[in-house]
Amino acid sequence: MLSDGEFHISIWKDGIEVWVTQMGPLMNMNTAFIDRTNGMVAIIDPFDSDLWELKLSEEGLNPTHLLYTHTHRDHAAGYPGMMEKYPDLEVWGHEDARVPDLVEHIVFRKVDFTNTWNCKPGETVGWSAGSISLSITHSPGHAPGHVTIHGHGVYHAGDLLFVRSAGRVDLPGGDPRAQQKSLITAKNILSELPSDWRLIPGHRYDEYNGGIPDWISIGEVLEYNYFLANITIPKDD
Ligand SMILES: [Fe+2]
Repeated sequence: MLSDGEFHISIWKDGIEVWVTQMGPLMNMNTAFIDRTNGMVAIIDPFDSDLWELKLSEEGLNPTHLLYTHTHRDHAAGYPGMMEKYPDLEVWGHEDARVPDLVEHIVFRKVDFTNTWNCKPGETVGWSAGSISLSITHSPGHAPGHVTIHGHGVYHAGDLLFVRSAGRVDLPGGDPRAQQKSLITAKNILSELPSDWRLIPGHRYDEYNGGIPDWISIGEVLEYNYFLANITIPKDD
């Protein structure tokens, strides 16, 4: 189990490094994909810009891209600090995550995306930087413009899915029906991925197998996640 700000580093078979860390009181999980050959460092939802700067600088690296699953305050906590330290960053999120009508609400934080994805709910688009190649799936429900991001052996679920549970839908901009559809989409995607890939949840919330793991294998999440195991298709669809 990762301590606050500790990094787990692995190298996928294509040479892309996958860094996973856990930070803050809500145990936010961050994932980064690193292509050293081309100098690309893409970080999902960085929580603490100082801890990220410290770790990356030890390795002689600078971030090049921030990828946002959604713009809830905790997921975007590191945004102001990252922009201060690295003003040339490309900042990506779904167009719907700009939430112009909700951005002043305490639950959200304003993120000025330099680039956006515009795919429809349930649709997946490709994203790449150097040799980093990811699939981005629009998965609204927990928050407008929520996306999941998968590639290089991991499925970063954001707050769509946790190890045993799924994201809440009662916050402003939440939509239970959209969430149900997003969970069905996720189940379909996960069912097609190798069962030994890791699902990284947006938070380390859930107990599983006598501990509170940082991640769960896709094979296990399909079997043991309460929502994925029991999902049904909405009646009028
Ligand atoms: Fe959230």
